[in-house]
Amino acid sequence: MLARRLGGALAADPLRRFPDGETYVRVRTPVRGRDVVVVCALDRADVRTVPLLLLAATARDLGARRVGLVAPYLGYMRQDARFGAGEGVTSAYFARLLSDAFDWLATVDPHLHRYSTLDAVYAIPAATVTAVPKIAAWIARSVSRPVIVGPDEESAQWAGAVAAAARLPCVVLAKIRRGDREVEISAPDGLRWRDHTPVLVDDIISTGGTMTATARELRRARFPQPVCVGVHAVFADGADAALRRAGVARVVTCNTIAHPSNAIDVRDVLADGVRALLDR
Ligand code: R5P
Repeated sequence: MLARRLGGALAADPLRRFPDGETYVRVRTPVRGRDVVVVCALDRADVRTVPLLLLAATARDLGARRVGLVAPYLGYMRQDARFGAGEGVTSAYFARLLSDAFDWLATVDPHLHRYSTLDAVYAIPAATVTAVPKIAAWIARSVSRPVIVGPDEESAQWAGAVAAAARLPCVVLAKIRRGDREVEISAPDGLRWRDHTPVLVDDIISTGGTMTATARELRRARFPQPVCVGVHAVFADGADAALRRAGVARVVTCNTIAHPSNAIDVRDVLADGVRALLDR
Protein backbone atom coordinates (compact mmCIF):
# COMPACT_ATOMS: atom_id res chain seq x y z
CA MET A 1 0.00 0.00 0.00
CA LEU A 2 2.86 2.37 0.92
CA ALA A 3 4.70 1.58 -2.33
CA ARG A 4 1.52 2.32 -4.30
CA ARG A 5 0.83 5.58 -2.45
CA LEU A 6 4.39 6.75 -2.96
CA GLY A 7 4.42 5.70 -6.62
CA GLY A 8 7.35 3.30 -6.08
CA ALA A 9 8.23 -0.28 -6.96
CA LEU A 10 8.05 -3.08 -4.41
CA ALA A 11 11.28 -5.11 -4.17
CA ALA A 12 10.41 -8.80 -3.94
CA ASP A 13 11.83 -10.96 -1.14
CA PRO A 14 15.19 -9.28 -0.49
CA LEU A 15 15.78 -11.42 2.64
CA ARG A 16 15.83 -15.08 3.50
CA ARG A 17 17.51 -17.21 6.13
CA PHE A 18 20.43 -19.53 5.49
CA PRO A 19 19.95 -22.94 7.14
CA ASP A 20 22.30 -21.83 9.94
CA GLY A 21 19.99 -18.92 10.79
CA GLU A 22 22.12 -16.16 9.28
CA THR A 23 20.49 -13.69 6.90
CA TYR A 24 20.93 -13.85 3.12
CA VAL A 25 20.32 -10.48 1.42
CA ARG A 26 19.75 -9.99 -2.29
CA VAL A 27 18.12 -6.87 -3.71
CA ARG A 28 17.21 -7.72 -7.30
CA THR A 29 15.35 -4.47 -7.99
CA PRO A 30 17.85 -1.88 -9.29
CA VAL A 31 18.46 0.71 -6.56
CA ARG A 32 21.40 2.75 -7.92
CA GLY A 33 20.58 6.46 -7.62
CA ARG A 34 17.11 5.73 -6.19
CA ASP A 35 15.44 6.34 -2.85
CA VAL A 36 15.06 3.04 -1.01
CA VAL A 37 12.35 2.83 1.66
CA VAL A 38 12.61 -0.09 4.09
CA VAL A 39 9.41 -0.84 6.03
CA CYS A 40 9.76 -2.76 9.29
CA ALA A 41 7.77 -2.61 12.53
CA LEU A 42 10.33 -2.77 15.30
CA ASP A 43 8.47 -4.84 17.85
CA ARG A 44 10.56 -7.98 18.50
CA ALA A 45 13.40 -5.62 17.63
CA ASP A 46 16.19 -7.97 18.67
CA VAL A 47 15.24 -10.48 15.97
CA ARG A 48 14.59 -7.89 13.29
CA THR A 49 17.45 -5.48 13.73
CA VAL A 50 20.33 -7.50 12.28
CA PRO A 51 18.48 -8.31 9.00
CA LEU A 52 17.35 -4.68 8.86
CA LEU A 53 20.88 -3.31 9.20
CA LEU A 54 22.19 -5.80 6.63
CA LEU A 55 19.49 -4.80 4.15
CA ALA A 56 20.23 -1.08 4.61
CA ALA A 57 23.96 -1.71 4.16
CA THR A 58 23.30 -3.70 0.97
CA ALA A 59 21.12 -0.93 -0.51
CA ARG A 60 23.81 1.65 0.23
CA ASP A 61 26.48 -0.62 -1.21
CA LEU A 62 24.43 -1.02 -4.39
CA GLY A 63 24.39 2.76 -4.83
CA ALA A 64 21.00 3.83 -3.41
CA ARG A 65 20.61 7.59 -3.27
CA ARG A 66 19.11 7.52 0.23
CA VAL A 67 17.93 4.64 2.40
CA GLY A 68 15.01 5.50 4.69
CA LEU A 69 13.37 3.46 7.42
CA VAL A 70 9.63 3.35 7.97
CA ALA A 71 9.15 1.81 11.41
CA PRO A 72 5.40 2.09 12.13
CA TYR A 73 6.32 1.02 15.68
CA LEU A 74 9.73 2.12 16.93
CA GLY A 75 11.05 -0.20 19.61
CA TYR A 76 13.57 0.45 22.37
CA MET A 77 12.17 3.87 23.26
CA ARG A 78 11.16 3.09 26.83
CA GLN A 79 14.64 2.69 28.35
CA ASP A 80 15.21 6.43 28.09
CA ALA A 81 17.21 6.90 31.30
CA ARG A 82 19.46 4.97 33.66
CA PHE A 83 16.89 3.95 36.27
CA GLY A 84 19.30 1.75 38.24
CA ALA A 85 23.09 1.68 38.62
CA GLY A 86 24.79 -0.15 35.75
CA GLU A 87 21.83 -0.09 33.36
CA GLY A 88 22.31 0.77 29.70
CA VAL A 89 20.37 3.66 28.19
CA THR A 90 19.46 1.36 25.32
CA SER A 91 17.17 3.82 23.56
CA ALA A 92 20.24 5.95 22.81
CA TYR A 93 22.41 3.02 21.68
CA PHE A 94 19.65 1.63 19.47
CA ALA A 95 19.11 5.09 17.96
CA ARG A 96 22.81 5.27 17.16
CA LEU A 97 22.68 1.92 15.31
CA LEU A 98 19.73 3.02 13.17
CA SER A 99 21.09 6.55 12.61
CA ASP A 100 24.32 5.09 11.21
CA ALA A 101 22.47 2.71 8.88
CA PHE A 102 19.68 4.92 7.53
CA ASP A 103 19.33 8.42 6.08
CA TRP A 104 15.92 9.15 7.58
CA LEU A 105 13.22 7.62 9.76
CA ALA A 106 9.41 7.79 9.81
CA THR A 107 7.31 6.40 12.64
CA VAL A 108 3.94 6.63 14.38
CA ASP A 109 3.65 7.95 17.95
CA PRO A 110 7.04 6.95 19.34
CA HIS A 111 7.23 6.62 23.13
CA LEU A 112 8.55 10.10 23.88
CA HIS A 113 8.62 10.53 27.62
CA ARG A 114 11.96 11.83 28.84
CA TYR A 115 12.99 12.76 25.28
CA SER A 116 10.80 15.56 23.94
CA THR A 117 11.44 14.70 20.26
CA LEU A 118 13.21 11.95 18.32
CA ASP A 119 15.92 14.47 17.45
CA ALA A 120 17.10 14.16 21.04
CA VAL A 121 18.38 10.65 20.25
CA TYR A 122 18.26 10.14 16.47
CA ALA A 123 20.94 11.87 14.40
CA ILE A 124 18.93 11.58 11.15
CA PRO A 125 15.82 13.50 9.99
CA ALA A 126 12.76 11.90 11.57
CA ALA A 127 9.06 12.28 10.79
CA THR A 128 6.77 11.52 13.69
CA VAL A 129 3.12 11.16 12.75
CA THR A 130 0.28 10.65 15.19
CA ALA A 131 -2.66 8.28 15.29
CA VAL A 132 -4.56 10.60 17.65
CA PRO A 133 -7.16 11.95 15.14
CA LYS A 134 -7.86 8.42 13.89
CA ILE A 135 -8.30 7.11 17.44
CA ALA A 136 -10.56 10.02 18.35
CA ALA A 137 -12.71 9.37 15.27
CA TRP A 138 -12.94 5.64 16.05
CA ILE A 139 -14.07 6.32 19.63
CA ALA A 140 -16.64 8.91 18.51
CA ARG A 141 -18.05 6.36 16.03
CA SER A 142 -17.92 3.25 18.18
CA VAL A 143 -18.40 3.99 21.89
CA SER A 144 -21.46 5.45 23.55
CA ARG A 145 -20.94 8.09 26.26
CA PRO A 146 -17.17 7.67 26.52
CA VAL A 147 -14.82 9.09 29.14
CA ILE A 148 -11.14 8.86 28.19
CA VAL A 149 -8.86 7.35 30.83
CA GLY A 150 -5.07 7.66 30.75
CA PRO A 151 -3.68 4.90 33.00
CA ASP A 152 -0.61 6.94 33.98
CA GLU A 153 1.29 10.17 33.51
CA GLU A 154 3.14 8.78 30.46
CA SER A 155 -0.14 8.09 28.68
CA ALA A 156 -1.47 11.58 29.41
CA GLN A 157 -0.14 13.01 26.14
CA TRP A 158 -2.19 10.50 24.10
CA ALA A 159 -5.26 10.38 26.36
CA GLY A 160 -5.40 14.18 26.63
CA ALA A 161 -4.97 14.70 22.89
CA VAL A 162 -7.62 12.08 22.02
CA ALA A 163 -10.05 13.63 24.51
CA ALA A 164 -9.40 17.13 23.12
CA ALA A 165 -9.83 15.94 19.51
CA ALA A 166 -13.10 14.14 20.28
CA ARG A 167 -14.26 16.77 22.84
CA LEU A 168 -14.60 14.19 25.59
CA PRO A 169 -13.88 14.26 29.31
CA CYS A 170 -10.54 12.83 30.39
CA VAL A 171 -9.18 11.34 33.63
CA VAL A 172 -5.51 10.46 34.14
CA LEU A 173 -4.62 7.94 36.86
CA ALA A 174 -1.25 7.18 38.48
CA LYS A 175 0.84 4.03 38.04
CA ILE A 176 3.49 2.42 40.18
CA ARG A 177 5.48 -0.22 38.31
CA ARG A 178 6.57 -3.07 40.60
CA GLY A 179 8.11 -5.28 37.91
CA ASP A 180 7.98 -6.12 34.18
CA ARG A 181 4.45 -7.45 34.51
CA GLU A 182 3.24 -6.05 37.86
CA VAL A 183 1.78 -2.57 38.07
CA GLU A 184 -0.50 -0.78 40.51
CA ILE A 185 -2.94 1.85 39.35
CA SER A 186 -4.48 4.50 41.59
CA ALA A 187 -8.26 4.45 42.13
CA PRO A 188 -10.23 7.04 40.15
CA ASP A 189 -10.92 10.14 42.19
CA GLY A 190 -14.60 10.34 43.23
CA LEU A 191 -17.62 9.04 41.39
CA ARG A 192 -17.66 11.47 38.49
CA TRP A 193 -18.17 9.90 35.02
CA ARG A 194 -19.33 6.60 36.49
CA ASP A 195 -22.24 6.60 34.06
CA HIS A 196 -19.78 6.81 31.12
CA THR A 197 -17.92 4.03 29.28
CA PRO A 198 -14.25 4.26 30.23
CA VAL A 199 -11.98 4.18 27.18
CA LEU A 200 -8.42 3.47 28.27
CA VAL A 201 -5.92 5.11 25.91
CA ASP A 202 -2.19 4.34 25.92
CA ASP A 203 0.58 4.24 23.33
CA ILE A 204 1.76 0.66 23.92
CA ILE A 205 0.08 -2.52 25.10
CA SER A 206 2.94 -4.87 25.92
CA THR A 207 2.25 -7.33 28.76
CA GLY A 208 -1.21 -5.79 29.12
CA GLY A 209 -0.38 -5.19 32.82
CA THR A 210 -1.15 -1.48 32.66
CA MET A 211 -4.48 -1.96 30.90
CA THR A 212 -5.59 -4.88 33.07
CA ALA A 213 -4.72 -3.15 36.37
CA THR A 214 -6.56 -0.02 35.20
CA ALA A 215 -9.58 -2.06 34.09
CA ARG A 216 -9.73 -3.83 37.46
CA GLU A 217 -9.52 -0.54 39.37
CA LEU A 218 -12.34 0.94 37.30
CA ARG A 219 -14.52 -2.14 37.74
CA ARG A 220 -13.86 -1.98 41.50
CA ALA A 221 -15.08 1.64 41.39
CA ARG A 222 -18.22 0.36 39.58
CA PHE A 223 -17.56 1.82 36.17
CA PRO A 224 -19.04 -0.05 33.17
CA GLN A 225 -16.76 -2.54 31.34
CA PRO A 226 -13.95 -0.55 29.75
CA VAL A 227 -12.76 -0.42 26.15
CA CYS A 228 -8.94 -0.45 25.73
CA VAL A 229 -7.30 1.46 22.88
CA GLY A 230 -3.57 1.18 22.25
CA VAL A 231 -1.60 2.68 19.40
CA HIS A 232 0.89 -0.21 19.23
CA ALA A 233 -0.15 -3.86 19.70
CA VAL A 234 3.18 -5.16 21.03
CA PHE A 235 1.36 -7.93 22.96
CA ALA A 236 4.08 -9.84 24.79
CA ASP A 237 3.32 -13.50 25.58
CA GLY A 238 0.22 -13.81 27.75
CA ALA A 239 -1.11 -10.29 27.13
CA ASP A 240 -4.20 -11.47 25.24
CA ALA A 241 -5.18 -13.85 28.04
CA ALA A 242 -4.54 -11.24 30.76
CA LEU A 243 -6.81 -8.74 29.00
CA ARG A 244 -9.54 -11.35 28.54
CA ARG A 245 -9.35 -12.24 32.26
CA ALA A 246 -9.63 -8.57 33.25
CA GLY A 247 -13.07 -8.52 31.62
CA VAL A 248 -12.57 -5.60 29.26
CA ALA A 249 -15.35 -5.07 26.73
CA ARG A 250 -13.02 -4.70 23.73
CA VAL A 251 -9.34 -4.15 22.89
CA VAL A 252 -8.57 -2.09 19.82
CA THR A 253 -5.25 -1.03 18.29
CA CYS A 254 -3.85 0.76 15.25
CA ASN A 255 -2.24 -1.24 12.46
CA THR A 256 1.36 -0.26 13.26
CA ILE A 257 1.98 -3.88 14.30
CA ALA A 258 -0.14 -6.60 12.69
CA HIS A 259 -2.49 -8.07 15.32
CA PRO A 260 -6.11 -9.29 15.40
CA SER A 261 -7.03 -6.21 17.50
CA ASN A 262 -6.08 -3.80 14.67
CA ALA A 263 -9.18 -1.72 13.91
CA ILE A 264 -7.73 1.74 13.25
CA ASP A 265 -5.93 2.23 9.96
CA VAL A 266 -3.06 4.75 10.08
CA ARG A 267 -1.35 3.91 6.79
CA ASP A 268 -2.40 7.12 5.09
CA VAL A 269 -0.99 9.36 7.85
CA LEU A 270 2.23 7.39 7.77
CA ALA A 271 2.45 7.68 3.98
CA ASP A 272 2.07 11.47 4.30
CA GLY A 273 5.01 11.55 6.75
CA VAL A 274 7.16 9.48 4.39
CA ARG A 275 6.25 11.67 1.43
CA ALA A 276 7.40 14.77 3.36
CA LEU A 277 10.79 13.14 4.00
CA LEU A 278 11.22 11.97 0.41
CA ASP A 279 10.42 15.48 -0.87
CA ARG A 280 13.21 17.06 1.17
C1 R5P B 1 4.89 2.94 29.18
O1 R5P B 1 5.02 3.60 30.11
C2 R5P B 1 3.79 2.91 28.19
O2 R5P B 1 3.16 4.12 28.04
C3 R5P B 1 2.80 1.81 28.48
O3 R5P B 1 2.00 2.17 29.59
C4 R5P B 1 3.47 0.52 28.78
O4 R5P B 1 4.45 0.25 27.83
C5 R5P B 1 2.49 -0.63 28.82
O5 R5P B 1 3.17 -1.80 29.13
P1 R5P B 1 2.42 -3.06 29.71
O6 R5P B 1 1.35 -3.43 28.75
O7 R5P B 1 3.50 -4.09 29.81
O8 R5P B 1 1.90 -2.68 31.07
